[in-house]
Amino acid sequence: MKLDITKALQFVDANAVHAFEPVVAKANKALEEGTCRGNDFLGWMHLPSQITEEFLDEINACAAVLRDNCEAVVVAGIGGSYLGARAVLEALGDTFGWLKPSDYPRILFAGNNISEDYLAELIDYLKGKKFGVINISKSGTTTETAITFRLLKKLCEDERGKEMAQKVIVAITDAKKGAARTTADKEGYKSFIIPDNVGGRFSVLTPVGLLPIACAGFDIKALVKGAKDMEDATGQDIAFADNPCSQYAAMRNALYNVGKKIEILVNFQPKLHFMNEWWKQLYGESEGKDKKGIFPAAVDFSTDLHSMGQWIQDGERTIFETVISVDNVNHTLAVPSDEENLDGLNFLAGKRIDEVNKMAELGTQIAHVDGGVPNIRICIDKLDEYNIGQLIYFFEKACGVSGLVLNVNPFNQPGVEDYKRNMFALLDKPGYEAESKAIKARLA
Ligand code: PA5
Repeated sequence: MKLDITKALQFVDANAVHAFEPVVAKANKALEEGTCRGNDFLGWMHLPSQITEEFLDEINACAAVLRDNCEAVVVAGIGGSYLGARAVLEALGDTFGWLKPSDYPRILFAGNNISEDYLAELIDYLKGKKFGVINISKSGTTTETAITFRLLKKLCEDERGKEMAQKVIVAITDAKKGAARTTADKEGYKSFIIPDNVGGRFSVLTPVGLLPIACAGFDIKALVKGAKDMEDATGQDIAFADNPCSQYAAMRNALYNVGKKIEILVNFQPKLHFMNEWWKQLYGESEGKDKKGIFPAAVDFSTDLHSMGQWIQDGERTIFETVISVDNVNHTLAVPSDEENLDGLNFLAGKRIDEVNKMAELGTQIAHVDGGVPNIRICIDKLDEYNIGQLIYFFEKACGVSGLVLNVNPFNQPGVEDYKRNMFALLDKPGYEAESKAIKARLA
């Protein structure tokens, strides 16, 4: 992975970026030494170097049981309990078949919304199919996931029988507390623990991400190896000039200080759409607090050049772009020649589609920089487990550093409780009587 900040440097005083060097180094040191704000949630930092082969084998063995007994596996989870797995599966999988080898189960995602139509249609799809469930919830009490799991558990038991359901339902949750733990223990499900010191959005390299990824047939050992190499490349001993996390954290904070309040993560590969979604949660929940924080937005190009392109080129100059550029694609396909050339495209005949895409990428970078949009570029070799593992750890570490530089606690998310309190009050959840009375009085 290579980071290029040169096309952003022209928008800030070079001294302003260098002024961040000691601040970033201090943040990295505090993370490594566990002395920073939110230091009870630093378990993700050394996951790649601490995960053992035996543990990965245990996850692969559980994935094999699901694979042998299921044609579909539903991952029930929301936020950090699903976005990482989905991002990796979409980045690595076949766009139309979802998965590489056809003998792996189709992975479906649910528990990430409260849509009656979504759930009813999911149930229709699953009826008559051999399916299993991975129920993921750190708290074990998240409403979206809990409602979904209640429905899926019943369906699985009704369709496949209690004994098979016990075999193909897996829980990933807290070691001791929460309804998901209680149910898993009572029903005898295979379960994995989400460590106390790893927050949801930093949990993709725990069983939360690793089990669904293994289940879909991808190499979790290569994924972890990529993350481990990035862990080594971003330690506190690595000099600023060689440390991509330090440079990214410094650059985005320098841009924020000159009024670039919105960061747009850009890809030119639709397979990275959910990497955008995962990144938005990681940075949004980590930095958006105390009335501060870069707003994380995302686009898929060239698709969104035909929708958001105008705004980015010409709208308010409060944005910067971070582009994930993939050097090598996994397939070979050229534009065919056509004798009649009715569409006038013969000037492209014989050219790889990716060459056209790369010119779209370069043309866009030049246009947007000319239009006043600072550009940061992250280049990865290709979409495989190793490179995605690197990218994941890079963004996690840079997020921790960047949040500390912004002087917020990057590892809590107090703001997400407010909607839940209101929803429970409106639904008359036991224990919310006073809130219920208050909110109903406001609405009367
Ligand atoms: O990052 C987070 O902490 C959140 O997005 C959670 O992952 C999300 O709210 C789901 O929580 P839980 O795993 O407890 O069901």
